Amino acid sequence: MSRNLKLKSNQMDDFAKIGTEAAREAGRLLLDRFHEGFTISHKGAINLVTDADLAAEELIVSKIRKAFPDHVIVAEERHNGKRGQGFSWVIDPLDGTTNFAHGYPVFSVSIGLEAAGGLEWGAVFDPVRDEFFSARRGCGATCNGTILRVSQTARLDSSLLATGFPYDIRTSRQNNLRNFCGFALRTQGVRRSGSAALDLCAVASGRLDGFWELKLNPWDCAAGFLIVREAGGIVTNFSGRPGLIDDGEVVASNGLIHQEMLDVLKGIGDLRLGIGD
Ligand code: IPD
Ligand code: CA
Ligand code: CA
Repeated sequence: MSRNLKLKSNQMDDFAKIGTEAAREAGRLLLDRFHEGFTISHKGAINLVTDADLAAEELIVSKIRKAFPDHVIVAEERHNGKRGQGFSWVIDPLDGTTNFAHGYPVFSVSIGLEAAGGLEWGAVFDPVRDEFFSARRGCGATCNGTILRVSQTARLDSSLLATGFPYDIRTSRQNNLRNFCGFALRTQGVRRSGSAALDLCAVASGRLDGFWELKLNPWDCAAGFLIVREAGGIVTNFSGRPGLIDDGEVVASNGLIHQEMLDVLKGIGDLRLGIGD
């Protein structure tokens, strides 16, 4: 963090309090709408948005703006602030919109806070399971108050991973399908939850051993990156450099299987799938 942005610890408490309330209130709103009804529109052929995404975003943004009027806000649907040397909130009001729109109950709210470009605090709330994941830089990560640690799985061969696919899957060759095949053949399984934020929290909790994806946005990653790292995990790009939320590509793991994951991603062009590919 830059020297001219010194954080007092009670200031962080205030940020965490408002961020926590915002994530919880938005999660409750989403759950109500999930049961009571919502309208769906298209941002692209398979990229949906609902009025619940927009309402959750407005709730979070107005709460943060009221408390911290000088902070920058970046939120997926309608807030495109310029992140810089001050405090910036990076928000996905509904991560898992496709699930939500289809009535599949796996989605979350994700809120991260940057100070001078570094992640300081983050929370991911799963209102369906009532699980609140959060982390503060240097203070560890928790879920509903219980300290999180990544798994001890030492080999990719014994691992359970997750991934996701970009919205241009039908039109781009960089659609992650070959990577998926590569990992499916080298692990005990690969899951696709539909919420990258929850996938990252699952790595932090040791429920998954690793996660990779490409073409993610900062709001998918901000809270989850910090939660994984504070739980003892590693987050990089596909080359192994420490992951930034603007990178798009993400490899998150328990650390033990990280190099093997990077090797699979690197060697993917030569992979013999054995399935007539
Ligand atoms: C999506 C989810 C999904 C991931 C996509 C994201 P959204 O976010 O995180 O798991 O595979 O890449 O765009 O659109 O539901 O907020
Ligand atoms: Ca998202
Ligand atoms: Ca979203």
